[in-house]
Amino acid sequence: MDSPRKIAIIGAGKMGEAIISGLLKSGAYPPQDILIFEISQNRCQYVAQEYKVRITSDINEAVNLAEVIIIAVKPGVVGKVLESIKHSIQPGKVLLSIAAGVTIEFLEKNLPKNTAVIRVMPNLACSVGEAMIVVCPSKNTGESELKIATDVLSLLGKVLKLEEKYLNLATGLVGSGPAYIFVIIDALADAGVRLGLSKGVSTVLAAQTMLGAAKMVVETGKHPAQLKDMVATPAGTTVEGLLALEEGKLRATLISAVTEAAKRAKGLMSA
Ligand SMILES: NC(=O)c1ccc[n+]([C@@H]2O[C@H](COP(=O)([O-])OP(=O)(O)OC[C@H]3O[C@@H](n4cnc5c(N)ncnc54)[C@H](OP(=O)(O)O)[C@@H]3O)[C@@H](O)[C@H]2O)c1
Repeated sequence: MDSPRKIAIIGAGKMGEAIISGLLKSGAYPPQDILIFEISQNRCQYVAQEYKVRITSDINEAVNLAEVIIIAVKPGVVGKVLESIKHSIQPGKVLLSIAAGVTIEFLEKNLPKNTAVIRVMPNLACSVGEAMIVVCPSKNTGESELKIATDVLSLLGKVLKLEEKYLNLATGLVGSGPAYIFVIIDALADAGVRLGLSKGVSTVLAAQTMLGAAKMVVETGKHPAQLKDMVATPAGTTVEGLLALEEGKLRATLISAVTEAAKRAKGLMSA
C-alpha cells in the first residue's frame, strides 16, 4: 500500500468501530490519521478513549482533512449526512458507503457530479482483519480511486468487486453472515455443554473447528462437498451427524436466512 491516506469515518457505531479497530490492528494507520464524526457523545468519548483516534464535532472538518470518507451510519441517515458534506467533497476524494440497501444512484444524486463513489458491503470481521468486503464502484470512479479504496479495505479483509445487482445479496450473505455463523458456533457449543463440557471450553472447540473448516475451503480451493466427504467415512460417526443436519433442514434454513436478509436490504432506505 502507498503511504496511508487520512480516513474520515462518519458514524462510529458497531461497524465504524470495527473499521477503526481493524485499521489500527493492521499497523498501517496511526490513530491520528483516522478522523471520526459521530453524533452520539457517548460513542465519541468511548472511541476516543479506546482507540485514541481524532474526534471532530465538525463533519466538514473530517471530510476536508481526509482523502477517503467512509459513511457508516444507518441507511435512513445517509441522505442527511450527504446533504451536510456535499460542499466539502472535492475532486480526489473517494467516498465509500457501507450502508445496506443504499444505491449508487442515490449516493450520486446527493453528491457533486463526478464524485468517486463506491458502494461497499463489509462485515463485522473488519475488526480482526478477516472481513469479506464486496465493492461496487460508480462509473465516475477511476482505476486509481478504486485502488485507493481497495488498498485501505484490504487491511480489513478480502476484497471482491461485484456488479451492483449483487449488493443486496452480499448484504444478506456477507453483511449479515457473521450473525448466522455465531448462532451455529453457539449451537455447537451448546451441544458440547449437553454432553458434559463447560460452555467456555465447548465454545473454543466449536469456533476453532469452524475457523479451520473455513480456512480449508479458502486455502485448498476444494469444493466444500468434497471436503465434507473426506470427513465422512462409510458407516462412520459423521454421516450420522449429517443425516441429523438434513432432517433438521440446515441447508434450506440457511438459504432462506440469506434470501430473507437480502430481500430486507432492498427496503432499508425508507426504514
Ligand atoms: N452491523 C453490521 O454488522 C453491518 C454490516 C455491514 C454493513 N452495515 C451497515 O453499516 C451501517 C452502520 O451500521 P451499524 O450496525 O454500525 O449501526 P450503529 O451501531 O447504529 O452505528 C451508527 C452510528 O452512527 C451514529 N449516527 C447517527 N446519525 C449520525 C450522523 N448524522 N452523523 C454521524 N453519526 C451518526 C449513531 O448514533 P445514534 O445511535 O445516536 O443514532 C451510531 O453511533 C449501516 O448502514 C449498516 O447497514 C452494518
